[in-house]
Amino acid sequence: MFSTEFLDLPPLVGAHGSVILPGSKSISNRVLLLAALSQGITTVHDLLDSDDTRVMLAALRQIGCGVQQDGSTVVIEGLGGQLPKAAAIQLFMGNAGTAMRPLTAALAVMGGNYELSGVPRMHERPIGDLVDALRQLGCQIDYLGQDGYPPLRIGQPTLRLDEAIPVRGDVSSQFLTALLMALPLVATRDIVINVVGELISKPYIEITLNLLARFGIAVQREGWARFTIPKGSRYQSPGSIHIEADASSASYFIALGAIASGSSGKDSIKVMGVGADSIQGDIRFVEAARQMGAQITSGPNWLEISRGSWPLKAIDLDCNHIPDAAMTLAVMALYANGTTTLSNIASWRVKETDRIAAMASELRKLGATVEEGADFIRVTPPATKADWKAASIHTYDDHRVAMCFSLAAFNPAQQPVRILDPKCVAKTFPDYFEVLFSVTHATTNTIPVLCIDGPTASGKGTLAAQVAQRLGYHFLDSGALYRVTALAALRAGLSLEPQCEQAIAELARQLPVRFVGEQILLDGQDVSEAIRSEEGGMNASKVSALPAVRTALVALQHSFCQLPGLVADGRDMGTVIFPGAPLKVFLTASAQHRAERRYKQLISKGISTTIDILRADLEARDTRDSSRAVAPLKPAQDALLLDNSDLSIEKSVTMVLNWWQDKQPFKPA
Ligand code: DC
Repeated sequence: MFSTEFLDLPPLVGAHGSVILPGSKSISNRVLLLAALSQGITTVHDLLDSDDTRVMLAALRQIGCGVQQDGSTVVIEGLGGQLPKAAAIQLFMGNAGTAMRPLTAALAVMGGNYELSGVPRMHERPIGDLVDALRQLGCQIDYLGQDGYPPLRIGQPTLRLDEAIPVRGDVSSQFLTALLMALPLVATRDIVINVVGELISKPYIEITLNLLARFGIAVQREGWARFTIPKGSRYQSPGSIHIEADASSASYFIALGAIASGSSGKDSIKVMGVGADSIQGDIRFVEAARQMGAQITSGPNWLEISRGSWPLKAIDLDCNHIPDAAMTLAVMALYANGTTTLSNIASWRVKETDRIAAMASELRKLGATVEEGADFIRVTPPATKADWKAASIHTYDDHRVAMCFSLAAFNPAQQPVRILDPKCVAKTFPDYFEVLFSVTHATTNTIPVLCIDGPTASGKGTLAAQVAQRLGYHFLDSGALYRVTALAALRAGLSLEPQCEQAIAELARQLPVRFVGEQILLDGQDVSEAIRSEEGGMNASKVSALPAVRTALVALQHSFCQLPGLVADGRDMGTVIFPGAPLKVFLTASAQHRAERRYKQLISKGISTTIDILRADLEARDTRDSSRAVAPLKPAQDALLLDNSDLSIEKSVTMVLNWWQDKQPFKPA
């Protein structure tokens, strides 16, 4: 996940590949509870890992259900509709509405001695309408705090099932879902539920009914007003069940395919885990995307998307049935051949943020003309290429704003897009940007590279790593490649002298090195410590003076230049490896300062030495590195010099980041 202050997306030019999306939250928690209530063992595949599902799993374990988890696969041993007799059980529901409501209903009809509580915010979320319905049925439920809100105590019910049960449908569809999932446990006769008020969020009730059917319950319904659970209904495990990927999350990749894929006639984006027969309401985004020109084929568990009409076709669409996914259409509208109007979206105003206002203001920053009304938004793309602007997108702590605006990086003007607070995507899709980068590409020379070169012990490694972290960029420690090469050569029995140049170069060309977090692996073995010694540095300096070895390592170094960007440190990053980099920094700390720094490092590791010895070593290495025939250590012509002798690391980092910002085209947010 990118936890940076902002994430700069370089201009993107194409997309191809397949993505696996995180599971749907609504389906995940329903399936867990249904599996727990069923007779038999259920293997749940592709479960979403989120706060809400963790709460549900913990609660199921507490009430006596067998739960075995192995990554995204969970095996649930069902209770067969019977709760084990137990003393009082306290269940903590966090802020998970999708666990609190249905568990309350299921436990209340089965009976026992339970207390359900949550975080303070959970105690402000209403549950009175559900409790009223359950009490009418004869359930024993007490409020432990404020009436109408959790925490609750559940006791033993005296059930009366002869009368129809009224439940409000206009506050939250979760109340109806909770009853529909609880009542099959006690269906000794037909049980009727009457919905009071206009039922909202019908697609979510569709999901509930669909999953009930998978677990053996055929609910009969009359429109959206009356539901009957037939006498004798009994939960039966389907054995194994896959959680569909989240259809709203799929919208970004459907749009991606329509905008960026297939222009060459063969590329496409394949979305795995959700297909046209999805039970989620937002799958109807597929129809809207087709209207705009996307070419989409699908199977039971996949969608494949490529560019059809280009530019996209402007549309005029009532989006009431796909409120979340429709935000993606507003960004697709930037690539359309006219004005797109999305209407009947009043609910946008009361979501994570006022989404109509948010989308309008951010689309305008990119150069679009936007009109907004109480319940619509109208988007006209920038008139010409020159009208597109490099924008810094405010995301309002709204995951969907962040995700859909990433698609603006395909603008024809090749302007970068800055996404502020990118970590807000964690609400539903923590790895969104990683997945996006895994299937998109940029023209290599537009992927930003920041070079930090300098002599040994100048602190460039620490500086470069921190700058990379603050920008969310990849990091190349090129010195480590020379160190690993030297180690590999010695292990292969080679000397590090010129007579072995070709043999070492051969080794370097296929160096089996991998960087895993902080670790450096050679042939799968962790050599991070082994290469960090003074001797390791001196050996690296020796092999790095061999021209054939330097040439052999060029391709490997270039391969680090990947989306969204790279910070590279070394001796010749700016002069030889990335000569086109937009920012090159050259560190110039004095030999005395560097020797003192190294001395402190070594002493803290318990290695005894003197500053004088270290200084002599450093100077010997400086001389070798800067006097060698190829790629000698020297500042690139356009490098900015940074003498960090008297600067803290934090100060140096700030300085470099400020230089970087100065090079960016973004207007202030
Ligand atoms: O940065 P370092 O101390 O890990 O580098 C070890 C040696 O590798 C250094 O003395 C010279 C060589 N080197 C190089 O020649 N070119 C680079 N880009 C990086 C390191």
